[in-house]
Formats: sequence, structure tokens, C-alpha cells
Amino acid sequence: MAGEDVVIDPWGSAQSTDYDRIIEQFGLSSMDNVRIDSPSRLHRRGIVFAHRELDTVLEAQRRGDGFGVLTGLMPSGQMHLGHSMVIDQVKWFQQQGGDVTIAVADLESQATRGVSLEKGRAIALEEYIANYAALGLDVERTNVYFQSSRPIVQRLGFQLGKRTNLNEFEAIYGFGGDTNLAHVQAPMVQVGDILHPQTDDYGGLRPIVVPVGVDQDPHLRLTRGLASKTNWFNVADGKHSGVSITLSVHDENAAVLGQLPNGRMDKQRLKETFDGIVKCMTELGYSDIQSNPKQGTVNVPSATKRDKTTIRMKLLAHERQLGGMGLLAPSSTYHHFAVGMTGDKMSSSQPKTTLFLGDDLPTVEKKIKRAFSGGQSTVEEHRRLGGNPDIDVAYQYMMYFFEEDDAYLAEINSEYRAGKLLAGEMKQLCIDRAVDWLGQLHEMRDQTAHLVKDFLAEDAR
Ligand code: TRP
Repeated sequence: MAGEDVVIDPWGSAQSTDYDRIIEQFGLSSMDNVRIDSPSRLHRRGIVFAHRELDTVLEAQRRGDGFGVLTGLMPSGQMHLGHSMVIDQVKWFQQQGGDVTIAVADLESQATRGVSLEKGRAIALEEYIANYAALGLDVERTNVYFQSSRPIVQRLGFQLGKRTNLNEFEAIYGFGGDTNLAHVQAPMVQVGDILHPQTDDYGGLRPIVVPVGVDQDPHLRLTRGLASKTNWFNVADGKHSGVSITLSVHDENAAVLGQLPNGRMDKQRLKETFDGIVKCMTELGYSDIQSNPKQGTVNVPSATKRDKTTIRMKLLAHERQLGGMGLLAPSSTYHHFAVGMTGDKMSSSQPKTTLFLGDDLPTVEKKIKRAFSGGQSTVEEHRRLGGNPDIDVAYQYMMYFFEEDDAYLAEINSEYRAGKLLAGEMKQLCIDRAVDWLGQLHEMRDQTAHLVKDFLAEDAR
């Protein structure tokens, strides 16, 4: 398949795991050079492997400014271990100070999976939110809402539809003439999900990070593009140095910015527009501002690349005062998918491929015992050649989910490779940890059941 493009289908069951290719093809940034001050298990183990503009969020966090976290769940079927990885990430961001919003994609589930809104609500509460509470999301800093009952989400989706078209949907999702329109509307609602937390009624302008599996990246590409297209001011690197600001005139803002219907410029208005930009830069403390309305630019030579976000935020706030939407493109992070227990992809519709968070302990034991192993076919061979933890499901599940201790993990990894640890022994270690972990989760679920309703935003009760 060399040379062929990877296709990401957010609704499909096949998923590419060629992560380097995905990074390159879709322009994600690798996590390799990102400085994380207190990395979680998923960061330390390279499981969170890519991002888009995460720096914006990390910088806000370091400055002690607020930032938001938004993710969503599709209420259909049972929650399995794979789903818990997003929550691990959300929890980590929450511990770093982020406020958390969770979208229940009940409209999407109805449209694409045939789950009624009523059923979707029940699944979301009993299956997902109940587990989120047990997994330790902080109820004080988490708001859960339903797509079907938050008008601004749908309104944003509708409004921003103006800035895309079917060609773009074809390019991003591979849609064609026979595509059901529910599949066109669902991404637009998701755009509303992702952008609405920065509106004034839902927390205001601040960086928003969206932790997701990489299957959801098409929606982020769409959302980031749409947000940028609404912006009134472009902030880019200056030609020689510094930062350069230009206007982005479209029909919603032409009058305000000073473009007359006949295409000519209202000089007074234009001057006010540029004075407005200069005032913003002065307030940020710059003194070397070069305003050039004729060329349509404001240059700030002493601003650095790192200042770009601050400048962008300032101008988005200014845009809002002038009547624009002032939307900041969202940041995102992506995690690797854990392998399915049978060695195939993990999937809710194939119960043997995964552990559900509600599986009873004997079932857990049975599934792990039958899981795909990276051991050799006989004990003698295993002792001689060693096993392969990279494809060993029991080891992988320890690494992804159950074992916090890096040193211990490294130890069993090398013992397995050296043939000292047998496949059956690895499975038993995993069973012990899994039974512990799930047993505790089930206990927590009883203890936190009464909190589920407190996770709901007012419009979700
Ligand atoms: N489409 C997501 C899924 O299939 C659910 C979802 C809806 C979502 N809105 C979101 C995920 C916003 C992240 C952010 O699981």
C-alpha cells in the first residue's frame, strides 16, 4: 500500500494504525518535542502521540490563565476500555486546571446509529457518565450536555455551514452524491460542540483542547478551518521579523471594517479600524507598532513567535466587541488505539475484542486467558527465543490501562523478551491487575452513582 493515502472515516470500523503516516498526511504535530511538566501514564508511554497546537493550551496553563477541555461521547452500546483513554486525558487536563465540557452526541447517534434520543440519554447516563464519575472526573469542574438540547450548538453548526461546501466534505470525508445528509449534518453539529465553549455564555474566549482518538481528526480539521475563516484579523509572522496583522474582509464585516458596498474604502472607517488594532497592541505593551492602512497591515517587529497567541487572543476579543464571533481554532490531542484482545481492532460490536467496563470478573479472566499472545508456541522455544511484548495483548493492556509503575513495566518487558517470563505468566499478571482495577472501578461506581445527575449542565436535567 506504499504511497496510497490513508483514509480516516470517523464512522467506519477499520482504522489505520500507521501513525507516522497519519501525522505526515494530515499535518498533525508529533508529541516528541512537546514539554509536558507532569506527564500522565499515556504521555510517558508515547500513547498520546500527536496534537494540533497544544502549545496554546499548555502556555495558558503555565501562565495560570483558564483553558477549556471539550470532548464528546457517542451514546451507543457499552463503554469499553478504549473509551476510557479519552477520559484519562480529560482527567489529566482537568488536574492541570482545565474546565471540562462533555457533549453527549445524541443527535449524531440517532442519525448515524439509529439510537433514539431517549435511549441515547439512558445509555449516556447509565453507561458513560456513571463510569466517568467512577473514573474520577471532578464533578465540580465537569459539565455534561446533550446536543439535542443546547440550541447554540446547533445554531453555530448551521451558521458556519455558510463557510464550507460539499467539495470540502468530499475532500475531508470522502462523501459523494449518495451520502445521507445526516452524515453531513453530524459534523456540523460537532463543529458547534467544539466551538461553543468559547462563546460568552459558555465560559468566554479561551483556548479549548479536544482530546480524541485519531478517528475524530477530520472533524477537527473541519472545525479549525471554519473557525479561522470567520476571523476578522489575520495574525502571521512578519516578512522580516515580528508579527504582521492583516484584515480579512467578508460580507459580515465589510461595513464595520470600512469597505463600502461599491468596493471602495470608507477612509474614516478604515482609519478607525487600524487605530483599533494599534490600541490593542499598545495595551499589550508594544511600542514599535507600524500601522499601514494603505497596505492593509499592522506590523509589530518586536513581537516574537510566542507572542502570536496573545496577539491573536487580544484581536479575537476586539473582534467580538465589533460584533464578530471571535473564534479561536481549537487545539487537539490524539492517542494510539489499544489492540483488540484477539489481535484485531477493538470494537464494541465484537465483545471478545475488548473488556467492557461492566464485565464481571470471571469474564475478564476468561477474555485475558484467551487473548492473543506474543509468546512462542512451546515453553522451550519461549525460553530460548523470548516473547514479543509489543504484540502481546496482556502486556499491552498492562501498559495502556492497568499498570502505573513504569519501572515494573520495564522489568516485565525485558523478562518477557528474555524468555524468563512465560506467556501464561504474563496473562496471570494482567488478570491480577485487571481484576483489581475493574473491581475497584465497580466499587467506585456504586459510591459515585449519586453524583451522575450533578455532572449534568442545567439544560441537560
Ligand atoms: N463523533 C464523536 C464519536 O463518534 C462524538 C462527538 C460528538 C465528539 N461531538 C464531539 C467527540 C466533540 C469530540 C468532540 O464518538
